[in-house]
Amino acid sequence: MSSGQRILGFESSCDETGVALVEVTGDAPPRLLAQALHSQISMHQAYGGVVPELASRDHVRRVLPLAREVLSQARLSLRDVDLIAYTQGPGLAGALLVGAGVAVSLAAALDVPALPIHHLEGHLLSPFLSIDPPEFPFVALLVSGGHTQLMRVDDVGSYEMLGETIDDAAGEAFDKSAKLLGLPYPGGPHLARMAEFGNPEAFALPRPLLHSGRPDFSFAGLKTAVLTQVKKIGDSPCEQTKADLAASTQAAIVEVLVKKSLLALKATGLKRLVVAGGVGANARLREQLNAACEKRSVRVHYPQLSLCTDNGAMIAMAAALRVQRGLTPPGEGGGFAVRPRWELGAA
Ligand code: KG4
Ligand code: ZN
Repeated sequence: MSSGQRILGFESSCDETGVALVEVTGDAPPRLLAQALHSQISMHQAYGGVVPELASRDHVRRVLPLAREVLSQARLSLRDVDLIAYTQGPGLAGALLVGAGVAVSLAAALDVPALPIHHLEGHLLSPFLSIDPPEFPFVALLVSGGHTQLMRVDDVGSYEMLGETIDDAAGEAFDKSAKLLGLPYPGGPHLARMAEFGNPEAFALPRPLLHSGRPDFSFAGLKTAVLTQVKKIGDSPCEQTKADLAASTQAAIVEVLVKKSLLALKATGLKRLVVAGGVGANARLREQLNAACEKRSVRVHYPQLSLCTDNGAMIAMAAALRVQRGLTPPGEGGGFAVRPRWELGAA
């Protein structure tokens, strides 16, 4: 039996309940011992989006069974846990409160510390769960359902915002466009699948702020442009037309993300890019980023596909990397305060 510290991590910020156990021993890369995840997607699908109250109630139902499952996978018990990490924000307040409440109560009962973690820090550090983790410093492109940001990352806890979206997030652009195309929630992966059969040049869609010269984003106009095209193609367009519109939408989002990432790399002079968050699973984004970065001798790191979207492993891993560096928690201690709105890098 090793003498490492074991961290049990909880994620419940939106529509996935995630629990994971990570072990950290000295300076060695932390190891993921076990993880379990429950996605609420099928429950919310009937409503076309996340229903916060239903999300909270489902987290209540899932969180403890998932924790038991993780411990049993690792053949360990609660007494083997040295620290509990949880997502403190940003996210849905009620959903966050479930994970935070369980984590802080368990920590109190076991007499171990509870470490609040920023959800985006979890995403940002999720490539450290891969066999080929990045080295610091790097540029991070965080593309999720709620955030689109480019950051300079010098170390764990040292984040400088280079640019972000002024309105919709990239994932939101995917989801809203997909909804207009009649695809189920969350639309991103559905739109991506449909786009495989379409022509990305069939529809001329806007690339907002493409030439702003700054690493900022705006996706609200794209959704409006997609709506205009949907109205034009009428009530019963053929599958090919829908696929063409999906492909054109995806191409517009991806082109902006690639161009802005290159801009941030150029501005910082860094040669490493980390892509994290749900949209990081997008195959066209990966293809185009890989091609553009290869030309410029930039290495791109992604979390493994299953860890792009929300999960407990990234929260336990972020806590492990903080523990290794002796960093104080980024969140507010005491009680179980949650921070539904919280800028990464803010105290
Ligand atoms: O990181 P995440 O699980 O949740 C947030 O923290 O928001 O990201 C979810 C987002 C959704 O908008 C979903 O549609 C998008 O990631 N997404 C994708 C793909 N897989 C997930 N978007 C485009 N292509 C995909 N393959
Ligand atoms: Zn997320």
